[in-house]
Amino acid sequence: MRMYDVIANKKQGRALTGEEIRFFVEGFTKAEIPDYQASALLMAICLQGMDAEETAALTDAMLHSGDVADLSSIPGVKVDKHSTGGVGDKTSLIIGPITASCGVPVAKMSGRGLGHTGGTIDKLESIPGLRTEIDPESFKAIVRETGIAIIGQSGDIAPADKKLYALRDVTATIDSVPLIASSIMSKKLAAGSDAILLDVKTGSGAFMKTLEGSIELAKAMVSIGVRSGRRVMALITDMDTPLGSAIGNALEVQEVVDTLRGNGPADLEGVCIELASYMLLLAGAAEDAAKCKTLARNAISSGSAYGKLLDMCRAQGGDESVLRDGFTKAEVQSLYTAAAGGYITHMDAELCGMASLALGAGRARKEDSIDYSAGILLLKKTGDRVDAGEPLAQLHTSSQAKLEEAGKILTSAIAIGEAPPPPAKPIYAVVTHDKVEMM
Ligand code: URA
Repeated sequence: MRMYDVIANKKQGRALTGEEIRFFVEGFTKAEIPDYQASALLMAICLQGMDAEETAALTDAMLHSGDVADLSSIPGVKVDKHSTGGVGDKTSLIIGPITASCGVPVAKMSGRGLGHTGGTIDKLESIPGLRTEIDPESFKAIVRETGIAIIGQSGDIAPADKKLYALRDVTATIDSVPLIASSIMSKKLAAGSDAILLDVKTGSGAFMKTLEGSIELAKAMVSIGVRSGRRVMALITDMDTPLGSAIGNALEVQEVVDTLRGNGPADLEGVCIELASYMLLLAGAAEDAAKCKTLARNAISSGSAYGKLLDMCRAQGGDESVLRDGFTKAEVQSLYTAAAGGYITHMDAELCGMASLALGAGRARKEDSIDYSAGILLLKKTGDRVDAGEPLAQLHTSSQAKLEEAGKILTSAIAIGEAPPPPAKPIYAVVTHDKVEMM
């Protein structure tokens, strides 16, 4: 078989065979197929698409390019959750402890920040001492003993995706449903959980900006998971505006603590209760979504989910005193105020994420270090009425110079008008293998 012919077939819009797809993935992983041929095929896939059979074959080839975790030594239905990425999205750190405190083991591998979006591993690492690089046997032992562990992706999980993702990042081939779906699902299936809840974000801060695109992506991922014999469903959730009030690592972990202690922002708590209840439903913790929702609510009100976060922190070597007493604050704090009065009609989530990066909360290059205390606390959100000069956000950073750049970005992110916008929906749809239920 020649790579030239595989590229030509896809360029002409033909469906690739399983053999052709395996030839490509195996050859590229072993560096037998050069980047320029892989890039040509990725672009052809972006332009011509892939059907469900091809997407499943691509996922399967990437899934088997490295280690496949075996979680069978952990009793019970293991459940995982994946978000397609957003701004202020700290849901994993809230729903993981909720789910685990209801007796469902959570063995989760998470990622770092990507582009304007934050990553769970960076957030966790703002807790002094907390380890996210843990060998597979210790990882499983923590889940058996504590009920939950959240670690970084190990080096050998889906190495084909790691190489392909890096190439897609620089060849304008990220935004393709079959490529995103196979990338995410190859990692999730290799991570070994029995059930997977997908949180597909939609709106200005999401990779998928439109509801139609997000539903198409959710359907593709659910279909791949179900074909592989896993219990999988997806929620389409809002990412047009940042989730909760905090953006930036330690600020977000503080908001996680506040939410688990029952004092979190309403939008964040509402989405987390929904997500946690569907995770519990997938794991069979109760027979319907309403009962699972009650379990999730009780886990917060009883304090058991907060206790589980402390247990996980301790088991992964973290200093739990910051979760009890608060984090060290950034050296420089400043208020960002409204230039005019009116209603906030839009708060562009992607631009808010970029303003937080400008304050030091993320990396501009892979090797950069993060300022864990940097970020934004939103004091007002979309739909709120504000007066001219009223504080909209509190900016946390290490230097005055960074404030200026972040302020400029926020000015383009926040629109103020005369009338309030229509209220946003926190959840747009629930996608299962046989239906899309609009909310
Ligand atoms: N996240 C992934 O892991 N892969 C993609 O392709 C996009 C987002």
